[in-house]
Amino acid sequence: MSSKINVAILGATGAVGTELLELLASRQFPVNKLKLLASPRSAGTKLSFRGEELTVEAVGDDSFADVDLVLASAGGSTSKVYAPKAVAAGAVVVDNSSAFRLDPNVPLIVPEINPEAAKAHQGIIANPNCTTILMAIAVYPLHQVSPVKRIVVATYQSASGAGARAMEEVKTQAQAILNGETAKPEIFPHAIAFNLFPHNSPLNDNGYCEEEMKMVNETRKIFNAPELRVSATCVRVPVLRAHSEAVNLEFAQPFNRDRAREILAKAPGVKLVEDWGANYFPMPVDATNRDEVLVGRIRQDISHECGLELWLCGDQIRKGAALNAVQIAELLVKENLLRSAATVSV
Ligand code: A2P
Repeated sequence: MSSKINVAILGATGAVGTELLELLASRQFPVNKLKLLASPRSAGTKLSFRGEELTVEAVGDDSFADVDLVLASAGGSTSKVYAPKAVAAGAVVVDNSSAFRLDPNVPLIVPEINPEAAKAHQGIIANPNCTTILMAIAVYPLHQVSPVKRIVVATYQSASGAGARAMEEVKTQAQAILNGETAKPEIFPHAIAFNLFPHNSPLNDNGYCEEEMKMVNETRKIFNAPELRVSATCVRVPVLRAHSEAVNLEFAQPFNRDRAREILAKAPGVKLVEDWGANYFPMPVDATNRDEVLVGRIRQDISHECGLELWLCGDQIRKGAALNAVQIAELLVKENLLRSAATVSV
């Protein structure tokens, strides 16, 4: 395995794609050649990487010859078509879509939690859903000390989760309303500026939407805890790019909040943000552009002797997507897990 890696970003022009580009440079990932792929709409667009101007290409069947690693963030339908082609061409794909996350042959990785699962990959590794990653980073260190029995979570999700054009829509709608006009929803189904709405992913028969069920099923897979009970309510709010979550945890035993604080103060990927005197706790503006998940307002649940409440904010584009994907890529390099997929079909 060469120490310099040929990388392709699929979805390079998107909100996560541009962040992947920045992270590969700032974290000095050992890139040899970098290929930028998107839809035909943006073929010819120039993006800069380490001071060099690169041209975006339309993805096609032949895009992956000589590529060792694909970081894919172009939606599930694109991944379903191109991830198997990339694997067949000898690349390992770190996929940010939901297409393969629950496939038993595809590891679902948060490097701070289950890095060892990457060893079993067969060419595709899935990057979990953003709200799930942020919650898992905060809950897992506690779960390791005393198993969590049940999680009840409410999310406050920023526009970035729906992509770069959705972030623009928050601004244009806000401007329109401030100008006395009516907000015209284009990307979102409802007005997002000065409003919020339950997450608009498709509803399941059980009444939960897909985003909520991702939090249930993906947390179980990442924690390797198939019996874990999770109930989520996901809400889209007019915040640009960091998600917030109110998390209620029920343990088998009482969990002292000071002990929880001590554990989270040292937990990887977590920054404890609590100033009880100033009533200051994590906020999305503080989490924006940060790698850590900000956790605070840890308190004993007054309604249950084994319950704990906490509040968190995390940058959806960074730890919720691009950073986690790059950390997985770093893990693949460190553990020499690239190219091993070349002979395995998906
Ligand atoms: P494009 O800019 O050409 O549409 P976001 O999550 O911010 O909406 O970004 C989605 C990313 O996925 C963009 O880079 C977008 O490219 C890319 N993409 C969307 N659909 C396709 C497709 N069918 N084939 C390749 N790339 C796609």
